[in-house]
Amino acid sequence: DAELAKAGEKVFKKCKACHQVGAKAKNRSGPVLNGIVGGASGAVDGFKYSKALKAAAEGGLVWTPEELAAFLAKPKKYLKGTKMGFAGLKKEKDQAAVIEYLKTFAE
Ligand code: HEM
Repeated sequence: DAELAKAGEKVFKKCKACHQVGAKAKNRSGPVLNGIVGGASGAVDGFKYSKALKAAAEGGLVWTPEELAAFLAKPKKYLKGTKMGFAGLKKEKDQAAVIEYLKTFAE
């Protein structure tokens, strides 16, 4: 849904301090998020993940919209030991919107 993706672009401002998307995206303090929706967790080349995220990845965690929403709601509660220093997105609408925006960066 294009409207929701547009709303998600605004929500993504909260992520931009640490994450980039798009053709020229580079890892910063957080990994590049191209292709993240529906993609394997912990799979971005050259990014140094926390032990917690590596363990989740080894356990087969895939970032479905459902898992992403749960993670983004409360990162540190969802993934104990994550080094993502972000309080979370309280509103379900904001979670859904940013996920829709991220879907537009498939690769
Ligand atoms: C990891 C999304 C905000 C720093 C991740 C991952 C996702 C994500 C999906 C997992 C990536 C993977 O498995 O490859 C988002 C979104 C945000 C946000 C959508 C905004 C709503 C932030 C902010 C920071 C940050 C503000 C920095 C203060 C990190 C770091 C990791 C990470 C360091 C790696 C975590 C670890 O290894 O435990 N983020 N993030 N993120 N993010 Fe964010």
